Order: sequence, then C-alpha cells, then structure tokens
Amino acid sequence: MDYKKLIKVALDYRNRAYSPYSDFKVGAAVLFESGEIYGGCNIENASFGATNCAERTGIFKGISEGESKIKAIAIVGSLEEYTYPCGICRQVIAEFGDEDIKVILAKSENDYIEKEMKEILPGAFKKDALGK
Ligand code: THU
Repeated sequence: MDYKKLIKVALDYRNRAYSPYSDFKVGAAVLFESGEIYGGCNIENASFGATNCAERTGIFKGISEGESKIKAIAIVGSLEEYTYPCGICRQVIAEFGDEDIKVILAKSENDYIEKEMKEILPGAFKKDALGK
C-alpha cells in the first residue's frame, strides 16, 4: 500500500502542534477501517502530565465520531529520525487495532519505515485478558 496520503495528513497536522514547552512537533494520521482518516497533533499543557500526544488526539477524534477499528497510523515527529509512538500511545493503538495493523514512521512522504503493532508492542494487554 502507498502510505503517501496518510503521511501527508500527518505532516499537515504536525504543523498544528501546540508544543511551547518541548518545541517538539508531532503529527499523526489514523486510517480507520471505514476508510476515513483522522489527523491529530500533540497538545501540551503547563501541567506537563496533562499533555496529549498526536496519536491519541487522532485516535480519540475518530472513536468519538463513531469509528471503531484502526487499519493503519502514520506518525511524523522529528524530521531527522523516525519517531516511535510512546508507551501510552502504543497501548491506545492496541485497544483499537489488531496486532497486524501498520504503524508508519515517517520523516517525509518519501522517507518512511513500516512496522506492525506486534513488533512494537508484543504481548499487548488487551480486553481478552479481562475476559471481554
Ligand atoms: N509526543 C507525541 O505526540 N507522540 C509520541 O508518541 C511521543 C511524544 C509528544 C508529547 C510531547 O508534546 C512531545 O512529544 C515531547 O515529548
């Protein structure tokens, strides 16, 4: 699959980052099984722990609009190296995506690597552990 479009959305949302404390901009684009794409950026807070990552912004936007399953997610943070999702975001992606969904880490539309969820969060704690 060509992830250029998804990366383009992530790059666009990266420009919307609210990151006055870290000066680190992150954009994400979440493709749901419906075919819809939701973009998100990191949104920081003077109380640092209240910060929301780009990935979770995009996922929560989609879920709150009635989406249910993630097919792929593209992430652009640093333009010099690939930015991996933080641990909390990996856990949130795992809640709404199967272990074979694609996680695209990009520096630009033409420079990206493709990972699967099971590579970056093996043995994820999921609803089956709770008997759900
Ligand atoms: N950040 C993300 O948006 N996504 C990640 O997966 C890694 C970290 C943000 C949070 C914070 O605003 C900034 O990057 C520095 O940690």
